[in-house]
Amino acid sequence: MTLSPTAPLEEFLRETIGLATDSLGRGLIERVARKRMEAAGCADVEEYVRRLRGDERLRQQLIEDLVVPETWFFRDRQPFVLLTELAAKRQAPLRLLSMPCSTGEEPYSLAMALLDAGLAPDSFCIDAVDISEVSLGVAKAAGYGSNSFRGDQGAARETWFRAEDGRWRLDPLVRSRVTFHHGNLFTFAPSGRYDFIFCRNLLIYFDAPAQGAAVRRLLGLLREDGVLFVGHAEAAVMLREGLGPLPVPRAFAFTRRLAAAPKAEVAPVRRQPATPKPAAPAVLPFADVKPRPAAAPVADAPSLEAIQALADRGRLDEAAGQVQAHLVAHGPGAAAYHLLAIIQDARGDAAAAEAAYRKVLYLNPRHEEAVLHLALLLEKRGDPEAARLRQRVRRPAGRGGDA
Ligand SMILES: C[S@@+](CC[C@H](N)C(=O)[O-])C[C@H]1O[C@@H](n2cnc3c(N)ncnc32)[C@H](O)[C@@H]1O
Repeated sequence: MTLSPTAPLEEFLRETIGLATDSLGRGLIERVARKRMEAAGCADVEEYVRRLRGDERLRQQLIEDLVVPETWFFRDRQPFVLLTELAAKRQAPLRLLSMPCSTGEEPYSLAMALLDAGLAPDSFCIDAVDISEVSLGVAKAAGYGSNSFRGDQGAARETWFRAEDGRWRLDPLVRSRVTFHHGNLFTFAPSGRYDFIFCRNLLIYFDAPAQGAAVRRLLGLLREDGVLFVGHAEAAVMLREGLGPLPVPRAFAFTRRLAAAPKAEVAPVRRQPATPKPAAPAVLPFADVKPRPAAAPVADAPSLEAIQALADRGRLDEAAGQVQAHLVAHGPGAAAYHLLAIIQDARGDAAAAEAAYRKVLYLNPRHEEAVLHLALLLEKRGDPEAARLRQRVRRPAGRGGDA
C-alpha cells in the first residue's frame, strides 16, 4: 500500500481539528494542499506541516478552504421545539452553547425560539463558536439571503427580520442574545458550563477516536443535568459513547445517562398477547420472540427499572446479561428488547443492537424510537432500508411504546 503524499497533512488535520480524510475525500485535501503549499512557497508537505504548526495565519487559511459551512435557520425543527419545552422548566439564567455555529443561523434560531416561547431576553445567553473566521464574519453581520431560509421556520422571518438591500436583516434583540467566539471544539475553554449544547453536523467529519474525544470535551462543557443536541447522523455516536437519548423522536437530544425508559415501557411487564401483532413487511419474524406458553414467573428476576439503573451506572455488560435473564423469566416484550437494544448500542455492538431493535419492531411495529434508532444504525452502514424506516417515522402515527 502506498502512503498518500498528503499523509502528514492529513494526520495534522486529524489531530488539530478532528477532520477525517474520508469525510471530504483525499482528492479535495490534495488540491487544497497543492494550492496552499505553492502560495506559501513550501517545497514539500513535511515543510508545509512544520510551517502550519508555527504559523496561525497559514493554518487559518487552510482551515477556511476545508470547512463545510452548510447551515440554515431552524434546521430540523424538532430540536428547537424540545429546547423551548426543556428551557421553560429550568431556572434562569440559562447558558447555551452552539458549537459549531457556522454563519450564525443555528444560535440565532435558538434565540428566536426562546424569545418566541416567552423567555425574557435577559433570562438566557448563547455562546456561539466556530473555527472559521470567515463564517463568523457573516454571522456577526447578520444579513441573510434566501438560502438560509429552507424548510419550516414558522413565522420567524416575518417576526424577526426586515428586508434591506436584498438581504434579510436580523432584529437587534435576537443579535444581542448571542456572543460569537473564534474557537476549536478541542480547545474551547469557557468559564462556566452549559445547560444546553448544540453540536450538530460536525462529528460526521471526524473518525471514531476523534468523535470519542469530542464527546468527552462536550461533556466537560455540559452541566451534570445538561442536554446535548446533535445532528441526526450523529445520534449513533452518542449511543456508542454511552449517552442516553431523550425519548423524543427527531430531536436527537442526549443526556449523560441512559434516558429513563418511558413509564409505559418499564412497568409493569405485561405478558404477551396470545396472538402476535402483525409484523411490518420490512421486519423479519423471529422464532425466539414469538409468544410461547408463559414460564412460571421468577420472583427474583431483575425488573427493567433495576436493569436501567445498572446501565445508567455504566455497568453495561451486566445490564445486558440481566435483560436476557428478564426475558427468560417474563417472556419476550418490546420494552425489554428496547432496553437491550439501547444497552447493546451503548456497548458499541451494532449487530446485537440491530437484532434487538428488530425484535422490538416485530412485537410493536409502531415503536417510533426503535424505528428511528434502527434507521440510524442502518444509515451508518449505507443500507437503503434506512430510508424506508425513516418514511415510517415521518408518517403521522401514534407514538410507540406499549410493551
Ligand atoms: C456543517 S456546519 C454545521 C453548522 C450548524 N451546527 C448546523 O448544524 O447547521 C460545520 C461547521 O463546523 C465548523 N468546524 C469544523 N471543525 C471545527 C472544530 N474543530 N471546531 C469548531 N468548529 C469546527 C466549520 O467551520 C463549519 O462552520
